[in-house]
Amino acid sequence: MTFLITAGPTREAIDPVRYISNRSSGKMGYAIAKAALDAGHKVTLISGPVNLAPPRNTKFISVLTSDEMFDAVHRHADTSDICVLCAAVADYKPAQVSPVKIKKCADGISLELIPTRDILQSLGERGDRKFLLVGFAAETDHLEANATEKLRRKNCDIIVANDVRVGMETDQNELVILFRDGEMKRISRAPKQFLACELVKIFLKFATKRFDKKDVMITERT
Ligand code: PMT
Repeated sequence: MTFLITAGPTREAIDPVRYISNRSSGKMGYAIAKAALDAGHKVTLISGPVNLAPPRNTKFISVLTSDEMFDAVHRHADTSDICVLCAAVADYKPAQVSPVKIKKCADGISLELIPTRDILQSLGERGDRKFLLVGFAAETDHLEANATEKLRRKNCDIIVANDVRVGMETDQNELVILFRDGEMKRISRAPKQFLACELVKIFLKFATKRFDKKDVMITERT
């Protein structure tokens, strides 16, 4: 199978030296990429700026902004069987990027922020998609309720929910996996590489079931 995996943060420029971003280290996404490669699959890894070396034999695409990540994902999604969007994409970007460094002034300044394009939702809205669509939900509260709402709104097959206080920038994580049909699985705290191997097995099982159903030919009897 071919995996497309996104990882890391995006950077949304304010001016030539400043940007909006977040603390994602890329560790979770890179661990999934390594687990998929180790299991013998092909991987396209689309990554924001992180301090990690991409696993060997990955098709690696480096991006900075949410718009670059959006374009890269859409270029590669249709040649993938399983898309796992683990990146912490900025939800907002400055309405305008100043071409020169904004000067410090005694008064405060206000920045107008506009929403970025939602990559996961844009894939979920595609009625013709053939790939399994997996999103992540990064939460600080009401983990299951918020993740269930994202699963429905973004129309994915699986959402992997995690508490950012446990799983962001760290080497360990704990996960709640929610499936489209209402099934739920929990994996208690463990190193990200172990969790990634479990996730890859779960995604493959779900994808195989999904593709099997598609291959069934229904012949009408008169
Ligand atoms: O990188 P690490 O330090 O290892 O940390 C791992 C992690 C906490 C970043 C990771 O496990 C995780 O939760 N990734 C998703 C982060 C996130 O943006 O969550 P969200 O709940 O805000 O977004 C929900 C989903 O929509 C995500 O799949 C996200 O990739 C996607 N999204 C969000 C905004 C946007 N503009 N486009 C998107 O595709």
